[in-house]
Amino acid sequence: MEILTTTTALRERIRAQRAQGKRIAFVPTMGNLHAGHLQLVRQAQALADYVVVSIFVNPMQFGPNEDYASYPRTLDPDKAALQDAAADLLFVPDVQEIYGGSPGQVTRVEVPGFEGDLCGRSRPGFFTGIATVVTGLFNRVQPDIAVFGEKDYQQLVMIRRMVRDLCMPIEVHGAEIVREVDGLAMSSRNGYLTPAERATASRLYQVLNEVKTALERGASDLAALEQTALDSLSVAGFNPDYVSIRQRGDLRVPAPDATELIVLAAATLGTTRLIDNIVISVT
Ligand code: PAF
Repeated sequence: MEILTTTTALRERIRAQRAQGKRIAFVPTMGNLHAGHLQLVRQAQALADYVVVSIFVNPMQFGPNEDYASYPRTLDPDKAALQDAAADLLFVPDVQEIYGGSPGQVTRVEVPGFEGDLCGRSRPGFFTGIATVVTGLFNRVQPDIAVFGEKDYQQLVMIRRMVRDLCMPIEVHGAEIVREVDGLAMSSRNGYLTPAERATASRLYQVLNEVKTALERGASDLAALEQTALDSLSVAGFNPDYVSIRQRGDLRVPAPDATELIVLAAATLGTTRLIDNIVISVT
């Protein structure tokens, strides 16, 4: 696996791969890789001939009181994991390389409707930070395919919208959530949990499953289901941000005849913000 830090070198390598007729897949990450990320790499390998992974902790998607400074940076084990997974190229730019030293001044990409909804409500600037950095990374890598995890489902829907709206010639694929044995969705932030919080954390997925079961049994008062779930999370010791039942494709509030749904939740345990979701098909 080759490791590059500059856009110039990256473009040169990718041009050479393209000249050999290879299809390029791209997996953007912020590092601290776990089995969920490696699943993205495997999916990318199944879809293309040459897989580029990036590791860049993007300052633009962190709020002033969030964990940018303390976000786990584990480059050596990440390199080893990607080497084992047989990724072809790792791109590790620094902030200067991506933003020219002035993240506050660069052109921003904002996908309408995401900043004020779900995670966007409590994390101002988060989705604009993601859309901006992903656009910059896409322009550098120019992949045929990009793979994102479904745990960050709102991010995935936003990227699909952005790619469509800006006519980017990229197929966007979602990869299923990878879970710990007790159901907790894998996340780099799980490492912040104390042992007691870790024991409680799997309740988030259980609560989502309870909403799913109720919907499958015909419950139709979505607001009541969401409130019950919020109460269950509070009782378990979470500080819930939202539990929301939406249409799976566009994250709109479900139309009466919608059958493909998703329940999304975000809740804080101690100081750690966890998100998760579960999909449901109702008849
Ligand atoms: O999902 C992530 O890890 C990040 O939001 C991404 C897509 C790498 C952009 O920084």
